[in-house]
Amino acid sequence: MNKASNAKRRQLVVGNWKMNGNLHENADLLVKVVAGWQGEHNADVVICPPFPYLIHTGSLLSGSAILLGAQTTSEHSKGAYTGEVSASMLADLDCKFVIIGHNERRRLQGETDEQVARQFIAVQQAGLIPILCVGESLKDREQGRQLETIGRQLDAVFAHTGKDVFNNAVLAYEPVWAVGTGKTATPEQAEEVHRFMRAQLGELAGKVRILYGGSVKAHNAQQLFALPDIDGALLGGASLDADEFLAICRAAD
Ligand code: 13P
Repeated sequence: MNKASNAKRRQLVVGNWKMNGNLHENADLLVKVVAGWQGEHNADVVICPPFPYLIHTGSLLSGSAILLGAQTTSEHSKGAYTGEVSASMLADLDCKFVIIGHNERRRLQGETDEQVARQFIAVQQAGLIPILCVGESLKDREQGRQLETIGRQLDAVFAHTGKDVFNNAVLAYEPVWAVGTGKTATPEQAEEVHRFMRAQLGELAGKVRILYGGSVKAHNAQQLFALPDIDGALLGGASLDADEFLAICRAAD
């Protein structure tokens, strides 16, 4: 697909499996996805399984064009942080991308904007690409404060990193009220936020990929991907079904 304003940005589809799967189901899903994504493509595809399945997933993806990612990481590089996983450990396992600041981590694990900023830095220091998630709550949206919330989440990271490092990062807009609810942002709602996020990037505005996430399915992907400031999708539920996932990847291709 050719978009006048983003002719140089490759579309990206990221599957965030969240805390789903087991060895048997994962193998079944990955064999089907790899078989359906052979050859050359104009879109990049990334799969982010739970930590324990990274090695198994990586081995089933090896030789394919599909890249491996992780769902979060520690802000620390090593040490006495029981249960944490560092970005360099993820690099060891051939991860290329790490999702950070997902709203489920912010809301359920209490991750703050500042922690997310430190995770962003840790991911880049390990040579990996952060996928920084931002998004407003339903309350923010109802009060018309979506851009204010997203601006604050972005500024918290910019304050620690500057903007230049976004040359090697991906942004994702995931409205909290659209995640796992079946309610997708309308094309107008999504495009408004993506345009705003792009404008915050200053000189890099035209270069950084900005994904949309929140109840993206095969039936609505094409319409979202056609928008000038949307460069792909961050998928939850749809990444657990090979046919659905591949249909979305093809829509981005
Ligand atoms: P759903 O696609 O299930 O709404 O989840 C989106 C998401 O949170 C991806 O990170």
